[in-house]
Amino acid sequence: MPPLTWTGINWFMINSNNDPAILALRNAAAQVEKKLIKLLPKAVDLEQQVIDAMAYALMAGGKRIRPFLVMESAGLFGVGESSAVRVAAAVECVHTYSLIHDDLPCMDDDDMRRGQPSVHKKFDEATAVLAGDALLTLAFEILSHEETHGDARVRCELISYLARALGVNGMVGGQMFDLLAENQDLDKIRITRLQRMKTGALIVFSGEAGAILGKAESRRRHAIKCYAHDVGLAFQIADDLLDEESNSEEIGKTAGKDAAAGKATLVSLVGNNQARTKADMLTDQAVKHLEVFGHKAENLRNLAKFIINRAS
Ligand code: IPE
Ligand code: IPE
Ligand code: MG
Ligand code: MG
Ligand code: MG
Repeated sequence: MPPLTWTGINWFMINSNNDPAILALRNAAAQVEKKLIKLLPKAVDLEQQVIDAMAYALMAGGKRIRPFLVMESAGLFGVGESSAVRVAAAVECVHTYSLIHDDLPCMDDDDMRRGQPSVHKKFDEATAVLAGDALLTLAFEILSHEETHGDARVRCELISYLARALGVNGMVGGQMFDLLAENQDLDKIRITRLQRMKTGALIVFSGEAGAILGKAESRRRHAIKCYAHDVGLAFQIADDLLDEESNSEEIGKTAGKDAAAGKATLVSLVGNNQARTKADMLTDQAVKHLEVFGHKAENLRNLAKFIINRAS
């Protein structure tokens, strides 16, 4: 059995420096991790194993970028921290579910995640499938609770937008597309669509969540959404570059897998340099969308730059 309690922030231990983006990420991560520990369900019998697997995956660290986006966006719209942190925790649950399933032998077949054996390696495939399912459903349970927001219409809107971001027109559709596109010649338009679906949609939700919680007016809601839209695509391009250029120890998952599997990525289509230029361009564009928020969006500006310059 893996330990149920966890005492460190692994990614931040390895990547500690004075980069303001990392310092801000670390603060949000600590808050969200505390909340995740509280929100994990309790068991009375053999179902404990699925909770152990959920905790194992959730508490292995990670950059907590999506929760950070939720917290920062909530800050722009005057949302209380207690609401924001619950939505941030829900988003990290669904992100972690997506990683557990992404690593399964029938998907990307990766034995390593967040610097430790993937859930199906530590436990078994059935437990990994169920832990993913349980994290996905836990996210909706969290959002539907009245502690998330006093207004039931806001809770419904969060649930509806998250469901759409995760379904066939979002992450699940993108993951299907990603698997079927292996060893196929996709053009830029189709690769971009695939990546916006599998990765971008949840990042857009994370940015928009603060605007939903704060009942933001449409111009400001649109601005944060456009920012997250650009950052979401830049994020996946950076992930693909790291897969190609980094090593497994640094990124905490198996490097070089995209080329080996024949994944359709911008990196495979146009090469590293052009892909990097595209990610830089998206980052500049993302930052421009933040103008309307003035200095309050400084952390989000830093995050956009961090996403394309990160080493893992
Ligand atoms: C990895 O996401 C999966 C992708 C969508 C590319 P992250 O790089 O945010 O993974 P963690 O949460 O930090 O482990
Ligand atoms: C993952 O993309 C997207 C989701 C998990 C939805 P990748 O397959 O490139 O992510 P990594 O590189 O395994 O983290
Ligand atoms: Mg994948
Ligand atoms: Mg993968
Ligand atoms: Mg990848």
